Amino acid sequence: MSFRRIRRRNEDEALASIEWTDRLSVGVPLLDADHRLFIELINALEGNAKYPGRQFEIADTLAALDQYAKHHFKREEEVMRACEYPHIERHIEKHKQFIDYLNTIRSNVNKNKDDKIGKDITEFMKEWLVHHILVEDMEYRPYVENNARASAAAQACRPLFFDVL
Ligand SMILES: [Fe+2]
Ligand SMILES: [Fe+2]
Repeated sequence: MSFRRIRRRNEDEALASIEWTDRLSVGVPLLDADHRLFIELINALEGNAKYPGRQFEIADTLAALDQYAKHHFKREEEVMRACEYPHIERHIEKHKQFIDYLNTIRSNVNKNKDDKIGKDITEFMKEWLVHHILVEDMEYRPYVENNARASAAAQACRPLFFDVL
């Protein structure tokens, strides 16, 4: 592959389909930083899904997403717990459903050689994440913003080692 083509491909992939805006802020800087990286991973997934034959890259990005989602969900749950968010159980259930979905699609990607699967997964992920941040995460915002317990809990929950990006 020529340099020009690689470059063109990278530029194409760099066109983020989800863009971070302040509208997505949940009021805790470390959780916002997690969400930004989450978005970056989904955009990377979308970049790979545009090209046929990239099952390996898709599986790799999904593995990173799995690790990263587990880290972020744990941190977010610790923050909600520290701030006594009353709907924490319902929220934890949403996180569990996402991890279950990820497990299912990861095994499907390994079995399935259909190029369309990457696009379907990306569409689901984009919708899920934006909806989850804007609706479900946003519900805890009044409990956590400007709350010292929230930032302390977020700080205390350090990311696990993961080799993404
Ligand atoms: Fe959440
Ligand atoms: Fe979140």
